[in-house]
Amino acid sequence: MENKKIELIRLLSQADGKPISGEQIGRKLEISRTMVWKYIQSLQSQGYSIISSPGKGYILNSVPDFLLPELVQAGLETDILGKDIRHFMELESTNDYAKTIAKDTTEGTVVVAEVQKKGRGRRGFDWVSPHGGVWISIVLKPSIVSADASRLTLVGGLAVVDSLKSIGLTPSLKWPNDVLVNGKKICGILTEMEAEIDRVEYIVLGMGINLNFNTEMLPEEIRDGSTTISDELGTYVDRLEFVRSLLYNLEQYYVHFKTQPFEELMERWIDSSDTIGRKVRIVTPSKMVDGRAIGISPSGGLLLQKNNGSTEEILSGRCIYI
Ligand code: BTN
Repeated sequence: MENKKIELIRLLSQADGKPISGEQIGRKLEISRTMVWKYIQSLQSQGYSIISSPGKGYILNSVPDFLLPELVQAGLETDILGKDIRHFMELESTNDYAKTIAKDTTEGTVVVAEVQKKGRGRRGFDWVSPHGGVWISIVLKPSIVSADASRLTLVGGLAVVDSLKSIGLTPSLKWPNDVLVNGKKICGILTEMEAEIDRVEYIVLGMGINLNFNTEMLPEEIRDGSTTISDELGTYVDRLEFVRSLLYNLEQYYVHFKTQPFEELMERWIDSSDTIGRKVRIVTPSKMVDGRAIGISPSGGLLLQKNNGSTEEILSGRCIYI
């Protein structure tokens, strides 16, 4: 049923506003005209505006502004990511939900919510997630040791950077996982994993992208340091197209990550980074250390040249530019 629906949406979208007859659709999808009509009705009930013009056929007028699986998949060019998409109008947290299904689901499963009620950021902070953003978690099952899991945060950052560039923005990466535009945070990444001693069972890569909403919708205390895509561009962007681009870019980097040495991705990350070369203060639950960020370690940590000249690898912590 779902596959036929995806094919039908693809067919109607490709017709570019011209009518396609029920007979043509039936032939292409190998279903009866009655079934075509049933699918059309089912799409209409989901909020698709499909005009039925007697004697001519069906025209797709508009699609609902939701990241519905069949809509994302209709133009998705991936082999691993997004074959299974679980969409919710509202969830507490896509990462939390993804973790409940991760064990029994295939790699590449995507969980997406229009709104998150208890979106989580790093270090126990809330992540405010109103309608218009992209709140998405992806289940990955790479054969890696847990010490290398934070590399995937960098991989996620690279994918977001490419997708933002493709819509005309100039993003940069702030270690460990913030994507900035004009110095303000536009995306955060929360990587969580389940692992045995020497093997990762699964990773949930959660990404929150401030897309089509006004920065005013964010709480006052983070407003100054945050931005959204629509505020930066002065216009709304196609969320579906953005999600497809994100999944496509992520898959390219993920395949590279699994098959090639990590150094190349590290270099790419450094090229897009806003952090390397800067004087920074790193705050962890147990200490605070100042120095200059001089590179990224093979496990995705920050290499910090401390004021006494020695170098320390910081695996996690809050990074403040000073
Ligand atoms: C950060 O603090 O920078 C990380 C924010 C990560 C937010 C995303 S939104 C989708 C996914 N679900 C969550 O609850 N959090 C992540």
